[in-house]
Amino acid sequence: MNFENYLKESLTLYEDSRLKEAMEYALLAGGKRIRPQLIFHTLKAFNRKEELGYAYACALEYIHTYSLIHDDLPAMDNDVLRRGKASVHVVYGEDIAILAGDALLTEAFFQLTRNSLSDKQNLKALEILSTHAGANGMVLGQVMDMRPEQLNNRVNIETMLEKKTGRLLEVALELGAIAANQFENLKIFQEAGKWIGLAFQIQDDLFDIEKTAEELGKSNSDEENDKQTLLKLIGPASAKELEKTYYYRGIECLKSIPNLNSSILMEYIQSIQKRQY
Ligand code: IPE
Ligand code: IPE
Ligand code: MG
Ligand code: MG
Ligand code: MG
Repeated sequence: MNFENYLKESLTLYEDSRLKEAMEYALLAGGKRIRPQLIFHTLKAFNRKEELGYAYACALEYIHTYSLIHDDLPAMDNDVLRRGKASVHVVYGEDIAILAGDALLTEAFFQLTRNSLSDKQNLKALEILSTHAGANGMVLGQVMDMRPEQLNNRVNIETMLEKKTGRLLEVALELGAIAANQFENLKIFQEAGKWIGLAFQIQDDLFDIEKTAEELGKSNSDEENDKQTLLKLIGPASAKELEKTYYYRGIECLKSIPNLNSSILMEYIQSIQKRQY
């Protein structure tokens, strides 16, 4: 089964309802699946099958999708377009959008356990996924993003970026290593994910000013929302340079990991760097 079908199948566990419809609408809208692919490429780089990572990838894509539904809400970025379609709250209302996010977040941890990996692997996976997604991780990053007046220097902005975006990319690499039963270098995977995540969000912020909503498949509202970004602080040319440097640093970290065929991951990361949306 390919991963798209796995994601589809994962939803058959839930009772038919407007809630399930909204979850499905968001999840199957056709995201780039970058976080799942990072898990799969890490497994391949350890010479393991990508199917070993399906449950972890499903859990992570649930959490990422919930973060996008909530990110678009009127109380947050107030965006009406996501993944080329009307945002969940536009179609289903704010109440269902909030609850669909809640359901995806909660069910992520159930989906994570649907595998035949060891208890040791699953316990570690639960620990790091909750830590990176939670009150010290992505959610705190989103809070920082909503308070631009407190983001007055580069260190604060990078901390915000690392949390709101970096953490879910860090955890993707770490989950790939855990699914491959490789626990030795999780810290280096985390470090690599941090640089890749920073680069990824700098690129996202550049797209927000360079491209149209149609090209992006999502609203570009950073200026309207008066968001604080590195781009604003150092200008587009320096931001572009920094993006390159950070992708490079991420790849260099991965090259230092023994037993890892890092060129497999490197090629995939370079394709992220070349993405158009
Ligand atoms: C969007 O992530 C949110 C950010 C962290 C910039 P993606 O660009 O991976 O979104 P999808 O999953 O492809 O829609
Ligand atoms: C969002 O950052 C990061 C999340 C944790 C959802 P953005 O607000 O820049 O993401 P987009 O541009 O709406 O996808
Ligand atoms: Mg946002
Ligand atoms: Mg947003
Ligand atoms: Mg953005």
